[in-house]
Amino acid sequence: MSEAKHEAYGLEKVVQHAHARTRGDLTGALATYIPELARVDPERFGIALVSVGGEVVGVGDVEVPFTIQSISKALAYCLALEAAGRDRVLAHVGVEPSGDAFNAIVFDPHTNRPYNPMVNAGAITVSGLLAQALGAEAFDVLLDRFSAAAGRKLGFDEAVYRSEAETGHRNRGIAHLLKNAGALEADVDATLDLYFRQCSILVTASDLARMGATLASIGENPLTGATVFAVEAVRGTLSVMFTCGMYDFAGNWAFDVGVPAKSGVGGGILGVVNRQLGIGTYSPRLDTKGNSVRGIAAFRELAEELGLHIF
Ligand code: DON
Repeated sequence: MSEAKHEAYGLEKVVQHAHARTRGDLTGALATYIPELARVDPERFGIALVSVGGEVVGVGDVEVPFTIQSISKALAYCLALEAAGRDRVLAHVGVEPSGDAFNAIVFDPHTNRPYNPMVNAGAITVSGLLAQALGAEAFDVLLDRFSAAAGRKLGFDEAVYRSEAETGHRNRGIAHLLKNAGALEADVDATLDLYFRQCSILVTASDLARMGATLASIGENPLTGATVFAVEAVRGTLSVMFTCGMYDFAGNWAFDVGVPAKSGVGGGILGVVNRQLGIGTYSPRLDTKGNSVRGIAAFRELAEELGLHIF
């Protein structure tokens, strides 16, 4: 982040400006493929930042809860690297960007494994690794770890979980194909149950910013001082977030915004400015790739104004 801009305007002014400049973009649409997701208020828009030094800024709807959805993939991967071990995780899920949609039914033809842990096929495989490594406690362990990253006890949206568990036939199909390919060893139903539950964890933009700050400070929550993730796991996670976190928009994002990030169809985006900031945005209208329209716009503004691009 450019010191000059930060000093001259203050972080809060920059965030207010980014919010004001992007809030008028009402394009995009709510995710409706999980029926319960279509019930959220499309107007909500919040931007939150937390620095590794403990500075906290929030503008707009930063305390409105929404389901974490695919952002859970990044944190679950981080936990799996620790719980199952790097070698075992890499043997089951690759780290190559796929260039495909998040729910694509395609595996790496050379390995018969999912391309990366940020698309559904890879994330379901990661849930399977966690289910095996942690057993019946898997969801509680995951929720505790997500909560430690956010610095507060997180809840879970039972209605969204049920809605996805009842309608997620594509993910069920993917899980069975993974099992058939040998990428998934765990029980299919236990794996999907964990995957649907982790997607239904409730967060706010402020939570995402605090989780981002925990990753930015290499696994230590800067506001609570708790050590949440191991250093190597954070490095692996940020790497795949940088190359694969925004699905088939990941290249564009790396070029324009230039920070590791992960989006979810609930409307959130979590961004990490390594060793500096966690950023969380919430705006539920999505583009055709499943990324939040105003979230992307806000990140572009912040990256420009604060000089966040890593290169
Ligand atoms: O697997 C699914 O369909 C969802 N529970 C999560 C997908 C998601 O958030 C994709 N994101 N942009």
